[in-house]
Amino acid sequence: MKDWQEGIGAELREILFTREAIQAKVLEMGEEIVRDYAERRVLMVGILNGCFPFMADLVRSMNTYLDVDFMSVSSYGGGTQSSGVVRILKDLNENITGRDVLLVEDIIDSGLTASYLLDNLNTRHPASVEICALLDKREARVEEVPVKYVGFDCPNEFVVGYGLDFQGLYRNLPHIGVLKKEVYTDP
Ligand code: IMP
Ligand code: MG
Repeated sequence: MKDWQEGIGAELREILFTREAIQAKVLEMGEEIVRDYAERRVLMVGILNGCFPFMADLVRSMNTYLDVDFMSVSSYGGGTQSSGVVRILKDLNENITGRDVLLVEDIIDSGLTASYLLDNLNTRHPASVEICALLDKREARVEEVPVKYVGFDCPNEFVVGYGLDFQGLYRNLPHIGVLKKEVYTDP
């Protein structure tokens, strides 16, 4: 769908972050991270599934030596409310002892997932753990969590696209927006 005004793109009520705005921001974030880590070899840890477009674009904006690894956690029961229950579905492949770890998240909402992951990874004695999130839904925060790199502040609405899903769908949209009400109400 060339301009995404038909098909699944038509199910958005509003676009909050365009493809162009996202691309520009991700480039900027990657360059900042490279500067901060200088000659340290950062281990980028993507939190699946939501991180995949962001992670892919972010590492390609980082002209440096780095490693990538992934974790998969479940935090939402498939709806639009944070359950507060975090379960590790797939753990890291790498040993992170002594490593500089950067968690890559699509969005920090209640903060429960990120906070759980931070505690969990810290028990493995990394040199450092920081968080990088494309979106920060500050207003929805239940658990305070330090987010070092933020792409955009996000209004307190349920958003989809660029990795973010509603019941598994819309992750493949190149932009991020808010779904029309009828999409939630029609099963
Ligand atoms: P938290 O634990 O409430 O911070 O939520 C973290 C996870 O919930 C994110 O990694 C997303 O997968 C999901 N999430 C939170 N807000 C949204 C949203 O607005 N749209 C889609 N997924 C979301
Ligand atoms: Mg996620």
